[in-house]
Amino acid sequence: MLIKKPADIRPSEITPPEWYARRREFLKGAAVLGAAALLPPVLRGNLARAADDDLKPTPYKDVTSYNNFYEFGPSKTDPAENAGSLKTSPWSVTVEGHCEKPGQYALEDFLAPHPPEERIYRLRCVEAWSMVVPWLGIPLGQILPRFQPTASAKYVEFTTLLDPAQMPGQRTQLLDWPYVEGLRMDEAMHPLTLLATGLYGKELPNQNGAPLRLVTPWKYGFKSIKSIVKIRFTEQQPRTTWASEGPSEYGFYANVNPAVDHPRWSQKKERRVGDFFRRDTLLFNGYAEQVAGLYAGMDLRKDF
Ligand code: MTE
Repeated sequence: MLIKKPADIRPSEITPPEWYARRREFLKGAAVLGAAALLPPVLRGNLARAADDDLKPTPYKDVTSYNNFYEFGPSKTDPAENAGSLKTSPWSVTVEGHCEKPGQYALEDFLAPHPPEERIYRLRCVEAWSMVVPWLGIPLGQILPRFQPTASAKYVEFTTLLDPAQMPGQRTQLLDWPYVEGLRMDEAMHPLTLLATGLYGKELPNQNGAPLRLVTPWKYGFKSIKSIVKIRFTEQQPRTTWASEGPSEYGFYANVNPAVDHPRWSQKKERRVGDFFRRDTLLFNGYAEQVAGLYAGMDLRKDF
């Protein structure tokens, strides 16, 4: 795990100049949207977090060199070293299952109704190490209705590319390939859930899941499936990779929850990459106001 001592961190790494430019853009973008007061509450809350100095973005260098992407090897430095072999163009996304408009879409067509200027910035942290990342993407809830999910669509399942020729990790038994993740329909439609196409205002680097990856800001990092080639509407809860590998350790919901310990470690504290000290982990990663209602009546110790 890459933990830097404060003395190792140059001030320019902590607050990169491009971030200040981006941050101005982000805030200006919000102003263009019609001032924060006019935003739906969920985006307003997000904006509040974005303006919070406690959410200083993790330096680009760390976001793109300390990764989990087992298709390119199990160590945190493997993806940046090996993911160059992934060919992200041409790319297509297959939509199937309980919907009226299934099909195979070239990535350009899949994204076409959402031109780059409409893609939004959003910050969030991820576990197991935590990071603050200025993502660029499209709310998934704006994309899914185009395929007209039917009343039987209770969940959305996502699948990563399966191609051992390009992904050396898939030539091993490290995981049961391909990587699969899933969300309940209301989680998928929540305005905080993004299909990310970039970070720091640039295209997604391969190691971060190019050309298309999921970002669910209130969940642990393993939910954030990378390099997605398939989206399937299902009636049953999808069998997700980590919940299958270790059902007692990784639940389907994966909500950030300091009150529920992982069987092998406490989840009360987290260390942000680049920080020296650990900080308190926030319920739902600080987005409780926006997402707690999704889980009303559920026992989050059981549905962890
Ligand atoms: N997606 C695929 N296809 N393969 C993976 O191994 N790892 C997950 C998730 N998405 C993974 C994946 C895990 S465990 C984490 S913590 C995040 O990606 C890490 O995202 P990052 O490298 O962009 O920080």
